[in-house]
Amino acid sequence: MDVTALDDPTDAQIRQWHAVLTAVHAADPAGEPAPELEQTMARLLGVEPGGRQRLWTAVSDGRVIAVATLRLPGEPGAARPGEIDIQVRPEHRRRGIGRRLLTVAAEGLRADGRSSVIAQVLEGTPAVPFLEAHGFRCVLTLRGLLLDMADVPPERTAALLASGPGGYGLVRWRGVVPDEHAEALAHAKHAMADLAQYEGAPWDAHRVREMAEMVAKRGDELYTVAAVRDGVIAGFTEVVVPADSPVRAAQYDTAVVPEHRGRRLGIRVKAAMLDWLRAERPEVREIETDNAGDNVHMLAVNRELGFRPQRESREYQADATDLPT
Ligand SMILES: CC(C)(COP(=O)(O)OP(=O)(O)OC[C@H]1O[C@@H](n2cnc3c(N)ncnc32)[C@H](O)[C@@H]1OP(=O)(O)O)[C@@H](O)C(=O)NCCC(=O)NCCS
Repeated sequence: MDVTALDDPTDAQIRQWHAVLTAVHAADPAGEPAPELEQTMARLLGVEPGGRQRLWTAVSDGRVIAVATLRLPGEPGAARPGEIDIQVRPEHRRRGIGRRLLTVAAEGLRADGRSSVIAQVLEGTPAVPFLEAHGFRCVLTLRGLLLDMADVPPERTAALLASGPGGYGLVRWRGVVPDEHAEALAHAKHAMADLAQYEGAPWDAHRVREMAEMVAKRGDELYTVAAVRDGVIAGFTEVVVPADSPVRAAQYDTAVVPEHRGRRLGIRVKAAMLDWLRAERPEVREIETDNAGDNVHMLAVNRELGFRPQRESREYQADATDLPT
């Protein structure tokens, strides 16, 4: 078995990569739609502005049997952790291939001056014992939730919007945040303190724009609704509609800053988002989201809106020094 770095993947290499993802998905669909070739292509070719990613394939008898991605957001050596994803064809597992790819990715991580790495995996999958056997610890448990848009008819969102507090204006934008709200949005993103902790980097206007540009570069569309009072963003919610499978949109961040909590602002911005998507993107049928297992308020908001629990996922983190060499 050979491990090869892909610096500039060709069409054929992207197809081989995609075939591995398809085989892994077929063995454990986890209720998720099968990956589309266009999505794989966009992920392999589209890199976060200001960041990089490294790709490796494991090849045996001329066939790609496993793939690994190491995303390196921001500048080299930055405090931000790298993000790793390894996928091994089901029939080639438990032969040390995952470990070999992790070792190669760990070298890439150290070469970039990173001190840690994170991985997001589903509970009950082999990824859990695999990561735990290699120095990773679980830093966050996330509950996957899915909303069927048909369960939230316009009368319901109208009632939710009417029940919200007065004194806040709603603003919305597609793509990168308008300049006038950039600092305020970065400030509101700090409200997601539990996430900021393991992401290790503060939100500023630059990073907020960078995130939106990354989504656009993939060809996906980012929608944001915010509740504003005196120029301050008191709460906001973000949804991304993927270009290739707009049927299932993805909830990104939602936060209400501490001084404005307890006033149903979270549910209000989310209800406004549903109204907007219904009018603007009628092809969106479902929205998926992840909530930290201990984030009782956000779970309550989402359950009230009609989100139903799916599988749990976990964020794992390891120090670069604990990874195999
Ligand atoms: C997780 C995954 C990458 C592991 O790949 P792999 O090639 O089977 O892993 P390895 O053979 O290198 O396993 C190394 C060690 O990890 C642990 N491990 C791996 N899979 C395990 C399992 N199913 N049960 C228990 N321990 C396991 C063992 O300690 C193993 O050593 P051992 O076989 O000598 O006991 C693979 O199962 C996979 O592709 N899963 C689906 C995709 C996924 O969830 N990826 C994770 C994202 S990082």
